[in-house]
Amino acid sequence: MRMRQWRAIVVAACVCGGAAMRPAVGAAQDSAADRSVVDGVFTAGQATAGREVFRRACASCHQLGDLAGPKFAFRWEKTTVGDLFTLISDTMPDGAPGTLEPREYAGILAMFLKESGYKEGDTELPTDVEALRKIKIEPLPQ
Ligand code: HEC
Repeated sequence: MRMRQWRAIVVAACVCGGAAMRPAVGAAQDSAADRSVVDGVFTAGQATAGREVFRRACASCHQLGDLAGPKFAFRWEKTTVGDLFTLISDTMPDGAPGTLEPREYAGILAMFLKESGYKEGDTELPTDVEALRKIKIEPLPQ
């Protein structure tokens, strides 16, 4: 009995240590992720709205093809949509971070997913970071 308790403690300590050493933004949240971007996590309308926001707030500095498309999963794999939401809303637009509404940032992410080939679904991407952290970014199925 004593032994078993000890082992549980050691295992827990190892998991925490491993997660803390991983550099990716919010990667420690991985284990909480229960859905992924392949599961139809945004709507077509949300992506369309996001495209308009991107044109207005981001396109002066970014080509859409640099941020979305075949490279998207390669760049952000092992993070979550929530991590990317936090990154974008904390740092972009460069010089005026956080100046868009949460639903506008979510719309941009929906559009990135659509442009990267992921299918839409019936429910919009949420604007709540905790909920977004439960959606893993992974490559399209082959
Ligand atoms: C005034 C110029 C400017 C504007 C406007 C701007 N960005 Fe950026 N963005 C940058 C710069 C500079 C970087 C850092 C260098 C890079 O990765 O291109 C960056 C980096 C990024 C990255 C990280 C890219 C990576 O692979 O690490 C993302 C994602 C991003 N921007 C999204 C956006 C979004 C979404 C908007 C609109 C809400 C936006 N940016 C508006 C200049 C801008």
